[in-house]
Amino acid sequence: MSFDLVFFGGTGDLTWRKLMPALFQAFRHGKLPAGGRILAVARDERSDDDYRAFIKERFSEVESSKRPTDDEFARFAELLHYRRMDLSHPEDYNGLKQWIDARGADTAVLYLATSPHLFPVICEQLGAAGLNAPHIRVVLEKPLGHDLKSAQEINRVVRSVFAEQQAFRIDHYLGKPSVQNLMALRFGNALFEPLWRRESIANIQITLAESLGVGTRGDFYDRTGALRDMVQNHALQLLTMIAMEPPSTSDADAIRDEKLKVLKSLKPFTPESVARDVIRGQYRAGNVGGQAVPGYQQEVKVPEGSHCETFVALRTEVQNWRWAGVPFYLRTGKRLAARDAQIVVNFRPVPHPIFPGSQRANKLVIKLQPEDGLELHLLAAKGSGTSDSLAPVSLDLDFDKAFAAERVGAYERLLLDAIAGRLNLFVRSDEQEQAWRWVEPVLDAWSRESSGGGEGPRGYAAGSWGPAAASALVARDGNTWSEEQ
Ligand code: BG6
Repeated sequence: MSFDLVFFGGTGDLTWRKLMPALFQAFRHGKLPAGGRILAVARDERSDDDYRAFIKERFSEVESSKRPTDDEFARFAELLHYRRMDLSHPEDYNGLKQWIDARGADTAVLYLATSPHLFPVICEQLGAAGLNAPHIRVVLEKPLGHDLKSAQEINRVVRSVFAEQQAFRIDHYLGKPSVQNLMALRFGNALFEPLWRRESIANIQITLAESLGVGTRGDFYDRTGALRDMVQNHALQLLTMIAMEPPSTSDADAIRDEKLKVLKSLKPFTPESVARDVIRGQYRAGNVGGQAVPGYQQEVKVPEGSHCETFVALRTEVQNWRWAGVPFYLRTGKRLAARDAQIVVNFRPVPHPIFPGSQRANKLVIKLQPEDGLELHLLAAKGSGTSDSLAPVSLDLDFDKAFAAERVGAYERLLLDAIAGRLNLFVRSDEQEQAWRWVEPVLDAWSRESSGGGEGPRGYAAGSWGPAAASALVARDGNTWSEEQ
C-alpha cells in the first residue's frame, strides 16, 4: 500500500522528538508499508537534503538503542522530503495538492503537529484546496482545545471538511501496549469479567506519576496545567477502558460507543464536590532521585505567583448498575516520587475471615510504565507449620519480557494505524467533547477561586507523592493509595 505522510510542523519538537524516531523504528522493524513518502512542511526555506541533515542531527538526542546507524539513516532518509509552506497561503496548499496528486498514492495522511490554534485554519485551507478526498486522513495531536468551547470549534471546522472516519485524534496513551493489554485482559479472557463490578471491587485507582518537572515547557504548561494536560485525556481514556461494558465487536465505533457511555455516566461535579473531591497541587523545591530540584515557580518561563496545578487527585464515580458507589480515584502529577503509571483494582475483602492475622484484600495492579505487566496480589498459606496466618504473595506477568521482540512504541503503533486507516485507538469527537464537559466545572471552580483571591494549589515537595490532602481524600472512604498500603 503506497502512502504519503505529511507533517505540518515538520521542524517542531514533536516531529523530531517523537514522530521521526517512531517512523524510523517502524522502518527498521520492516512494518512501514513499502512505497511511502514522508513530507515535512514548515515555514523556512530548506532543501530535502537540508531537512535530512537536520533530522539526522536530531537523532543524536534520541535514546541510543533507537538511533539509526549511518547506513540505516541513509536508507530511511530516501523517504524524507521537505516543502516550504506558509499555512495561511491558499496557493501553498494547491502546491501540496499537486505534489500529492502527481503520484496518486493509495492514501495520504496529513498530521497536524503544529500548535492547536492553527488547526482550524489548516483544515479550512485543506478543504478549500480539495485535500479532503476519502483517501485522505487528518491526524490531530493534542491538546485538542483548551475547554469545551474551543474543542467544539476545532471539531466543527474538522467536520466541515472531513468525515469522522477521516479524523484521527491522538491520545498517545491509547497506543501504549499496556493499554491495549487492558482490553485484552478484560475482553480476551473470561476470568475477570464476572468479578469486574461493584459486588467484587471496592475501589479503583489510576495513577499517572512523573518524576520530571515541566522542563523548558513552562510557558505552555502554565496555560495548561495537569487537569487539561493529563486528566481530560489520558486519565479519562484509561478510566473508560477500565469501566466500559464489553463492546459487541472490536470495531472502532463499537468500542468508542461504550467509552462514550462511561464518560456520560461520570458523576458531574458541582462547586461543592469540586471543593471536596478534587485536590490540586503545585511542586515546590525538593529532591528527586537524590538531586535537588527547583520548585515550579522557579522553572524557566513560569510566571511568579502562578496558580497553575502540577498535580491533581480526584474522586469520582461511574453512575450505572455495574459501578454504583465504587470510588474511582485519579491522580497525576509532575515531580512526584517516581515515574510510575498504574491502575490498581482493589477487590473487596472476604465476607467472613477464618484465618488469623492480616486479612489483606486481593488487588490487581495493571502496570503501564516504566514496566508493562500485571500483578495479582493474593494471600497464601506459608506452610511453616507454626502459624495459620496467611502471607501476601503475588503472581507477576512481565509483558516486556514475554513479547519483547514484537512490542512497538505508542507513536509507532498509532502512525501505522493512521496509515492503515484503523481508528480503534483514536478518540472520537463526541468522547473528547464529553471529557471536556466533565472537567469544565473543575476549571470554572478553580478560576473563580483564583480570581477571588484564593490561595490556589497546595504546595508539595518535589519528590513526594503530592499534597497530604490527596491521602486524606482516599482516607475519607477508609482507603489508601497503593504506595501507602
Ligand atoms: C503528554 C503531556 O501528553 O504526556 C506531558 O503533555 C506528559 O506533559 C506526557 O509528560 C507523558 O507521557 P508519557 O508517555 O511519558 O507518560
